[in-house]
Amino acid sequence: DWTMASYREDAIQKIRDQVGDRKVICALSGGVDSSVAAILIHEAIGEQLTCVFVDHGLMRLNEAEEVVTMFREAYNLPLIHADESDLFLGALDGVSDPEVKRKTIGRLFIEVFEKHAKAIGGADFLAQGTLYPDVIESVSFSGGPSVTIKSHHNVGGLPEKMGMKLVEPLRELFKDEVRALGRELGLPAKFIGRHPFPGPGLAIRCPGEITREKLEILRRADAVYIDQIRKHGLYDEIWQAFAAILPMRTVGVMGDGRTYDYAVGLRAVTSVDGMTADYYPFTHDFLGETATRIINEVKGVNRVFYDCTSKPPGTIELE
Ligand code: XMP
Repeated sequence: DWTMASYREDAIQKIRDQVGDRKVICALSGGVDSSVAAILIHEAIGEQLTCVFVDHGLMRLNEAEEVVTMFREAYNLPLIHADESDLFLGALDGVSDPEVKRKTIGRLFIEVFEKHAKAIGGADFLAQGTLYPDVIESVSFSGGPSVTIKSHHNVGGLPEKMGMKLVEPLRELFKDEVRALGRELGLPAKFIGRHPFPGPGLAIRCPGEITREKLEILRRADAVYIDQIRKHGLYDEIWQAFAAILPMRTVGVMGDGRTYDYAVGLRAVTSVDGMTADYYPFTHDFLGETATRIINEVKGVNRVFYDCTSKPPGTIELE
């Protein structure tokens, strides 16, 4: 891609000009955005970059291990794995309000990140995989007031506090452009094609109170759902698909016994940039087969719903 090849050269030169021989730290989430940012910056300044993967205990099944292994082994990126799940889940205990969840996670994320930045002797710059749509923080409805729908997860406030400047090489890009840049940087297609995953992780796919039990059920249901989508060759047609665990239990019957278990909601949307989205029209066969698999394979689930809401009026995530 000609445009991305030149964007890459320009971006690398800009990073070198901005950073010089100073140090940069980057919060690596395992998502495409922060990964592309980190690899680009690593290409520009090598060992002057240190990445911190803040593991909040809200990642998907096996995700934390996979991310850490990939970056350390395949990309040789200097990476700190901060396993802070007890801290995050402890602070979220009993919290059900979506904005309180988001703000709690955002605050702890900054604390943990700051702790690790200090431990390596600080840095002059903070790198972020901020995209153009993230720069637009509020959504304005025609005729109505400008409203903040969700507090986005970022490390805003930290740079000033720690006297750091920002390095944001993806600030002008939309998601599809970041993917093109990732291909340009040689990232594997399977990784680049990964659906977006939000900073607050599974917390916002678990409306109501978060418990370790619910997170475990959610992880397993999500893994079965994504496996189904891949097996049917639909993964790349969908912008984002995930399971959510609903804040209710319902009565069911299995064998000759009564069950009283959680309900799982499945979401899948098509979109260009995440700003608007259409729900994905799965066949009834696919939905039926997936519901059966989830209920058979995931203990603690006895009902599956499919979310047919587009955005607007729904948002992509449940919180
Ligand atoms: P919503 O739910 O607002 O999501 O329709 C639009 C897109 O943004 C992702 N998302 C986030 N990404 N930090 C992120 O990095 C966040 O706090 C966050 N909240 C939502 C969401 O997954 C979807 O792709």
